[in-house]
Amino acid sequence: MKQTILVVDDEQDMRDLLQRSLEPDLNCRVVTAGTGEEALKKLSDSSFDLVLADIKMPGMGGLELLGLIKSQHPQQTVVMMTAYGGIDTAVTAMRHGAYDFIVKPFEYDALLVRLEKALERALLIRENRQLRIDRGQRDGLQDLVGNSTIMKRVYETIRTVAQTDLTVLITGASGVGKDLAARAVHQLSPRRSGPFVAVNCPTVPEQILESELFGYRKGAFTHATQNKIGLFQEASGGTIFLDEIGDISLAMQAKLLRVLQEKEIKPLGDTRTISVDVRIVASTNQDLAAKISRGEFREDLFHRLNVLPLRLPSLQEHVDDLPLIAGHLLRKHCAALDRPLKRLSPELMEIFKKRAWTGNVREMENLIIQGILFADGVEIQPAEVGLGGPQEAAAGIPTGMDEELLRLTYKEAKAKVLEAFNARYIGRRLTDTGGNVTQAARDCGLERQALQQIMRRYNISAENYRQ
Ligand SMILES: Nc1ncnc2c1ncn2[C@@H]1O[C@H](COP(=O)(O)OP(=O)(O)OP(=O)(O)O)[C@@H](O)[C@H]1O
Ligand SMILES: [Mg+2]
Repeated sequence: MKQTILVVDDEQDMRDLLQRSLEPDLNCRVVTAGTGEEALKKLSDSSFDLVLADIKMPGMGGLELLGLIKSQHPQQTVVMMTAYGGIDTAVTAMRHGAYDFIVKPFEYDALLVRLEKALERALLIRENRQLRIDRGQRDGLQDLVGNSTIMKRVYETIRTVAQTDLTVLITGASGVGKDLAARAVHQLSPRRSGPFVAVNCPTVPEQILESELFGYRKGAFTHATQNKIGLFQEASGGTIFLDEIGDISLAMQAKLLRVLQEKEIKPLGDTRTISVDVRIVASTNQDLAAKISRGEFREDLFHRLNVLPLRLPSLQEHVDDLPLIAGHLLRKHCAALDRPLKRLSPELMEIFKKRAWTGNVREMENLIIQGILFADGVEIQPAEVGLGGPQEAAAGIPTGMDEELLRLTYKEAKAKVLEAFNARYIGRRLTDTGGNVTQAARDCGLERQALQQIMRRYNISAENYRQ
């Protein structure tokens, strides 16, 4: 992109001369203004890398113009031109933020050298600003790592939903980063300077959840010795994150529905309602559609929550990102545990890539922490994190047999392994076909409809695989 210069001079000849010669010689675009007022107008309409302004002009003088430019655009690079004998004014100009000054009449080549330098500075400023914007956006995305198409889409969705004040429902298996995503939505939203209040619904006992969320008045129940503000009020001006909302009781669902509809809460024991200014983000790792059909989750609440759905992929669906995420977690935990940096051995990396991660990134993170603590060398070996036994050796069959599965019933464990298998198998078919369901079905040896049914059941979207 060409750099732009705004030349401000009351003399038409000077403006024409500068425009005609600087454009080719500096390979830039030159716009001119005959007065300070006109210059300000042009500066408010578009941005310029450099302003080259005469000090002595009728009406608004160059110094006044400089002051106004600097108050509105402190970073703007400005070079002043002054007639011989006006050196004192030029020094004043420098003190007021001009980058350089040029004495008229000037030698053209000397002018070029000075302007080149000023343009270089402007370029640096522009690059720094872009860097800061990029970094700001990355920071907003918290610790979410991954360069795959599917993760890039997640970032895009996060950025888009963050701009609105609408309710977001984050879905995804356990350990896929739902918590991180909720924080990112808040950080990238206009509410970022407000509070972020996270409520892990299943960990709060049912009887307490209501008073935690909505607060209570003194005397509402035996131990209510004073008024207590609820989390909804605490989150005022910010975001409340209702984590694992799939687990709350039907009675609590009814109360939440009212809050979502009315944007009002009613503390326990209070007769009045209080309106709250809160953005709601909820998450679940449960299949809410199945819960609805079993009568365990209210359909009306689901629709109130699912205004903007944000689905996070399981680790198998973006196994390409695994080395990157593993590297990120290794650096993070080696630093936190104050250990020298370790890496995964190639054998362990292979096992990781083939593994059926039922607990997704969180499960991998646990193994990485174990590896950092227990591995002897710089490279973490499979045996050092309890892997690589006969099970894993079985040519990449996703056994996924680990402690977490053994804590579940047979039915639950089978459902988890099946989900992981489907995400991985179908994810791979869709990756290979660029999201073409018809062709993926053919590769799977299934009817298109059958594959679509499975994809619906496991919440797999072909859209995510299209480039
Ligand atoms: N894409 C990712 N990049 C880097 N780290 C990740 C990513 N996804 C998850 N993690 C890490 O994995 C762990 C689990 O993430 P998080 O708590 O956000 O998941 P979750 O979906 O809320 O899990 P759960 O269902 O168990 O509550 C965290 O330590 C998080 O930092
Ligand atoms: Mg979570």
